[in-house]
Amino acid sequence: MDTLLLKTRDEDIELAASFIKEGGVVGMPTETVYGLAANALDERAVARIFEAKGRPSDNPLIVHIGEFEDIEKFNLVREIPIEAKALATFFWPGPLTIIMPKSEIVPSITTGGLDTVAIRLPENKDARRLIKASGCPLAAPSANLSGSPSPTTAMHVFNDMQGKIPAIIDGGECTVGLESTVVSVKDGVVTLLRPGGVTVEDLQSVCEKVVVCDAVLNKLKEGETALSPGMKYKHYSPNARVCLVKGEDKAFIDFVNSQDEKETVALCYSEDEKFINIPTIVMGEKEDLAAQAHNLFADLRLIDEIEGVKVAYVRCPEANGLGMAVLNRLIRAAGFEVISLE
Ligand code: TXA
Ligand code: MG
Repeated sequence: MDTLLLKTRDEDIELAASFIKEGGVVGMPTETVYGLAANALDERAVARIFEAKGRPSDNPLIVHIGEFEDIEKFNLVREIPIEAKALATFFWPGPLTIIMPKSEIVPSITTGGLDTVAIRLPENKDARRLIKASGCPLAAPSANLSGSPSPTTAMHVFNDMQGKIPAIIDGGECTVGLESTVVSVKDGVVTLLRPGGVTVEDLQSVCEKVVVCDAVLNKLKEGETALSPGMKYKHYSPNARVCLVKGEDKAFIDFVNSQDEKETVALCYSEDEKFINIPTIVMGEKEDLAAQAHNLFADLRLIDEIEGVKVAYVRCPEANGLGMAVLNRLIRAAGFEVISLE
């Protein structure tokens, strides 16, 4: 199958929506990362998403809606918990996914067999135009091959999905660059399952009790059940080995300068670059977490484009604000390998 690269004119959105109405899968821009979108209520369409990604069938998908009222219009949930309503009021449209009790209408394949459904109202206008034109909620995981870094440009999607899906809407670079924050809500407690564009501090400004699930920054223990199935899979990995390095500026610089320049790349801050003698990929300024988040997946994809590179040493961010989301992705890309120079 040829994969069309569409723009965002009305006729492009209409064409993409016609593929979705036929049960097809389309590459969709969102403010977080690109998604692989299909009718969330059509089992066969959703099966095509799993197939295109090579995704394990027990890893549930996020259901994207065009406006808050779609939850009731499409009868997606048994109830909307009050905490969910409060969070939606503050953070939708935006990079927040809320887990709710699913109705019978949502097929089990969409939710990986769980009796809950993850719902998100994206901020990206083209995503919402596509949902509206399709006339159904759209299930959409990140549009990468399972295990690879998430796509933040239409070309990233094209590289992974060429020949597998009929079309990709090119809506430019994703602004946030990291996937949405995923939370579950119960009895007044918000549990953070995956950190993203909405930070713990943001959530705390709305709900008093926010619990960060242990698996956000730590490896699941043997035999432990993941609250969010996505936690247990290898993620975001380039082919080269990725290793996080914890330490002060000088310690990091000395460490990477002692490595073999033909086989190593350093993922560093702009401030470090001029002191480093091996190839570098600049993640952004040290204090600019938004830039680091925005660039992260493109940086991980770049690693494999530098010839001969076998290992990437990456500066380890602090887990504050957006840093928690950046660290959550990096530590998985590194398979939890961290070197401490402290
Ligand atoms: O920003 C995003 O969320 C992007 C864009 C396209 O919207 N989508 C995305 O989807 O990142 P995906 O499939 O790559 O990640 C969804 C995560 C997975 O870790 C999955 O396990 C979790 O959400 N999830 C989905 N439904 C769940 C549920 N019912 N209970 C617990 N976790 C759930
Ligand atoms: Mg993903």
